[in-house]
Order: sequence, then C-alpha cells, then structure tokens
Amino acid sequence: MKPKVVQIDPQNIDLEELKHAAEVINNRGLVAFPTETVYGLGADALDSKAATSIFEAKKRPLDDPLIVHIAEKDDLYRLVQEVPHEVEKLIERFWPGPLTVILKKTDLVPDIVTTGLDTVAVRMPSNPIARKFISLCGTPLAAPSANLFGRPSPTTAKHVVDDLNGSIDLVIDGGSSEIGVESTVIEFDEGKTIVLRPGGINLEDIKLFVGDIELAEETGHIERSPGKYPQHYSPKAEVVLVENSSDQVEEVLTAAYRLEQEGNKIGILSTREHEDSFRAFCVKVLGPQKDGKICASRLFHMLREFDVDEVNVIVAEGIPEDGLGYAVMNRLRKAVGPDLY
Ligand code: TXA
Ligand code: MG
Repeated sequence: MKPKVVQIDPQNIDLEELKHAAEVINNRGLVAFPTETVYGLGADALDSKAATSIFEAKKRPLDDPLIVHIAEKDDLYRLVQEVPHEVEKLIERFWPGPLTVILKKTDLVPDIVTTGLDTVAVRMPSNPIARKFISLCGTPLAAPSANLFGRPSPTTAKHVVDDLNGSIDLVIDGGSSEIGVESTVIEFDEGKTIVLRPGGINLEDIKLFVGDIELAEETGHIERSPGKYPQHYSPKAEVVLVENSSDQVEEVLTAAYRLEQEGNKIGILSTREHEDSFRAFCVKVLGPQKDGKICASRLFHMLREFDVDEVNVIVAEGIPEDGLGYAVMNRLRKAVGPDLY
C-alpha cells in the first residue's frame, strides 16, 4: 500500500497536518520528513520498538546506528552525558544545520538506536518543517535517510515513495532538499576532532572552530566511520568515476565507448562545462565544475534519474574537492564501490 503523502509549504506550515503526522509518531509509526540535507525516516527515538521498525523498513543492517534529531539545543543535554567545550562552540555556530555530533549517550537512548554503542549521534536540523514536526512530536526523532539501505539518499518525497512504498505510514512532502548531501558527522576523541562523514558543512568552516581535524577515511578509523560499508549511495547502474585526469573529456569518452561496445547502455554524469561533448550518450548534468554546492544539491537526484533511463553503466566526471565538492566526491566514490578506489 502506498503511504499517505501530505504536502506542506515550508513558508506557510499547516500545523493541523503536522499534528496528525506527530500522532503517527506517538503511535509508534514511521513518518518520512524533509530536512535541509535529505529526507529522513523518523520514529520516536526513545521507544525501542518504534526505532526497530526503521531498520525493517530500510532493510538496514542492525550494526548501523541512527542519528537522533532534536528541535532545540537544550534537548541535547538529556541525551548525552557531557558536552565538551569544543562541541559547545561547534553547535553554537552550526546548529540548527547539517552538523551531527557523536557523544557518550545517557540511558534515555535505547540501545537499538545506537546499535549497542555507548555513543549517540545527534543533530538539530534547520529545515522549518522538520523543526516544527519534531517539536510537535514532543520526543526526539531517530531518523536515517529515508531510502532503502545502499541506495542514493532521497532529496524529494517521490524518491522516498519509490524506495519505501508499502513499509511506512506517512510522507511529509516539503519540496526538494536544499543541500542534497547528508550532514557532516563528527566524533571527538581525547581532544581530537574526527570527521566520520564529510557532508553539508564544509571542512574548511569546521577547521576555523576546532583547529586540527582528522578524516576517518584517511586515518583508517573505518570501523567507526558512517558509510563504513564500502559500497553505498548506489543507483541501479554500475558507476565508473573519472577523476584527476589531464584530459577529462577524452577519458570519459574512451571509457564510455569501450563500455558501450561491451554491450552496456551508458549514462554520463557530466559537469556543466562538458555536457556538449557527451551528446552521443544519455548525458545528465551534475553542475558547474567549481560549484560544489549546486553539484551536491543535484547529485542523488541525477543518480536516481539514470534508474529511470535504465542505463546500466554511469560514467561520472569528478569535480574539485573543495567546499561541498569533497562530500560529493566521497559519495561518488562510495557509489563506485570497493574495487575501483
Ligand atoms: O543529513 C543527515 O544526516 C540525514 C538526515 C535525515 O538528517 N541522516 C542520515 O542518516 O544521513 P543515516 O542514518 O543515513 O546516516 C547516519 C550515519 C550512519 O552511517 C551511521 O553509521 C552514523 O551516522 N552514526 C550514527 N550514530 C553513530 C555513532 N554512535 N557512532 C558512529 N557513527 C554513527
Ligand atoms: Mg543514509
């Protein structure tokens, strides 16, 4: 059965509709809702039965912990044991927004939410529908991205319905997600700030507040790292990534013609600058090469569009790794999978 979809205008929030959605949560249901990063699949974070349904609906492994979403900063203090000074500085600057912090949890947080870890991931989203919705629920919401495990995260209500049809109660449609990649996830260890997942907040901006940061993907904290599964964010097609090439157009075309000759239907995820060179194939534009922000906002949507066209190999052009470009390249490498990077 298709879930009910309610449309809510973020500029003029219909409180009655949101109250109905909050009732679904309070009855241990699952409600997908918009955030500024991607759509989340929410359940009462303080109820283990409700939180368990999230894993079932997403077909998510039971060792992949959930992020707890709160409406107000003050809600953090009952979920975690201690908030170190450097974390206070970060959340002062970046909340509400796409920053997730990992801290030692209190007993209030059920083990299923953290999959048995003694830490919990918390974030306060900035999307006005998300904030209002969480506060009407009167409880924090455990919410991973509202996709089937391993698929590109959803940036529209339609993506959610495409993936989770039949296994959730309600979708709040608040339009397209503004940022388009998930939150930046940060852990703190003996004075060190470790970025477990690059995301909606630039690393350059975080460095201004905490000095040195460590990148889990470079320092081998892989077992602690979100998306520790080597393949993730995957469209139906296989993804081939062309990066650091002196002649990117030439290399993309060579790969595309070779793969086509092997009998594949090829899609090309192109930068705006090069789209005309790839007209012989099914080409989709990620965004301008130097605009990581636009590329991030379009990435998952474009990957899902290739599903519609039924291509079976996507040749994707890399972009520079500054600003949000870093998070985009992280997602593209995971979409490729373990063998090719
Ligand atoms: O932007 C976002 O973060 C979106 C929206 C909906 O808020 N949510 C999201 O959730 O991306 P999810 O579950 O798809 O990704 C959360 C990542 C997981 O890969 C998980 O491994 C990691 O955060 N995580 C959660 N709790 C953790 C913990 N205690 N320690 C280490 N990693 C944790
Ligand atoms: Mg996810």
